[in-house]
Amino acid sequence: MKTHRVLIPGGYGAVGSIIASLLSKNENIIPVVAGRSKDQAKKRAEKLGCQWTTVDLEDKDSIQEALNEIDIIINCYIPSADFNTYLPEMAAEQGIHYLDVAAFNGYNERVVGLHKIAAKSGALLITALGLFPGAPGLILGGNRDYFDQVDCADIFFTSGSNMDNLTPLALQGIGYLMQVPPKKWENGKWTKPQGKARREYISKPFNKQITFYPYMVTFDLLKIPEIVKINHINMWSMSESMFLGMALVLGLKLGFAKTIKKATTFLRLLRYLGRNKNEDYSLRVISQGTRDAKKYERVVEMNAPEEHLTAIVPAIICEQIIDGDIKKVGAYTGAEVVKTRRFSDSLKNAGINYRDEIRAL
Ligand SMILES: NC(=O)c1ccc[n+]([C@@H]2O[C@H](COP(=O)([O-])OP(=O)(O)OC[C@H]3O[C@@H](n4cnc5c(N)ncnc54)[C@H](OP(=O)(O)O)[C@@H]3O)[C@@H](O)[C@H]2O)c1
Repeated sequence: MKTHRVLIPGGYGAVGSIIASLLSKNENIIPVVAGRSKDQAKKRAEKLGCQWTTVDLEDKDSIQEALNEIDIIINCYIPSADFNTYLPEMAAEQGIHYLDVAAFNGYNERVVGLHKIAAKSGALLITALGLFPGAPGLILGGNRDYFDQVDCADIFFTSGSNMDNLTPLALQGIGYLMQVPPKKWENGKWTKPQGKARREYISKPFNKQITFYPYMVTFDLLKIPEIVKINHINMWSMSESMFLGMALVLGLKLGFAKTIKKATTFLRLLRYLGRNKNEDYSLRVISQGTRDAKKYERVVEMNAPEEHLTAIVPAIICEQIIDGDIKKVGAYTGAEVVKTRRFSDSLKNAGINYRDEIRAL
């Protein structure tokens, strides 16, 4: 079988280095770790026994050089909603498959906007494949395999108290998501939630979790409503890290992560607050629906450090593309094209704490 070279810009960062490590176990894949620093790229590649190159995503010539003999790209550097899309544009034009972990509506939409160019060149572009909105989007998409009709779905993000690996970039991403105007899927269309829901975003009484109801809906989830009705999306926090969750929410609201420098200082504080605790991030999606006229509930839960939950999604999808499981060309979000049953099976074998259960109601 052909050996596939997978370029990973951001490949020695928190998310990218896990992707490189996961893919380096596949004998059909050669990860190419990339970033602006030659030393860091080389060091990481030597550790994993893979290849490396330098790339600056703000420089088209540098990107072009890095794309030499690349089959698939997994982009792990998307610092903001308005960051340039040189990389996906060049991938779309040159027939190179492209995946990313972007969690910014504006960026995701611009990637999907490259559909025609990608379809013409034979490239497949899939955006938004991180922990959010990729993982819950794919889990909801997987409901097609379990239900004739899905009535509702709740998505819970629970931050652990272990902030050791959270990076300033990831923190900025979370800050951005908190500003996305919440929407609610009701009676077949997206509506603005009424006042009550928004006022509850730090709930009273403040017991086990802070509730943002509905927290946010990003582009990927907008693709799901034809198969699921999303009632609300909750985030934070298990009792052990309740205080930390509150500090994080307030800090982000006050703009403590607006710049990388501020985010770094803020993270130091959060780590201090969360010291001696060791809880992973948790994503739980609970869907209810009907199959053969009977009601069922499906519960999917994933627990792992935050950057691991983000890395695992594009790593699995990259393997699906290489194995020929996804044959489409054009630009999409994950739930539109991914073989979700195989995605669930891969997660079960991915060495993370994963549960996918269905029970009669
Ligand atoms: N969707 C989700 O749920 C989710 C969750 C977590 C993270 N993320 C996203 O994943 C991405 C990576 O996050 P992270 O926590 O891994 O960040 P990180 O540890 O700071 O890594 C960022 C990497 O990007 C590289 N980089 C910076 N500027 C670059 C440029 N101009 N060209 C090429 N490479 C550049 C950095 O190396 P150099 O500075 O040496 O170039 C570094 O290797 C971010 O975009 C973040 O928003 C998404």
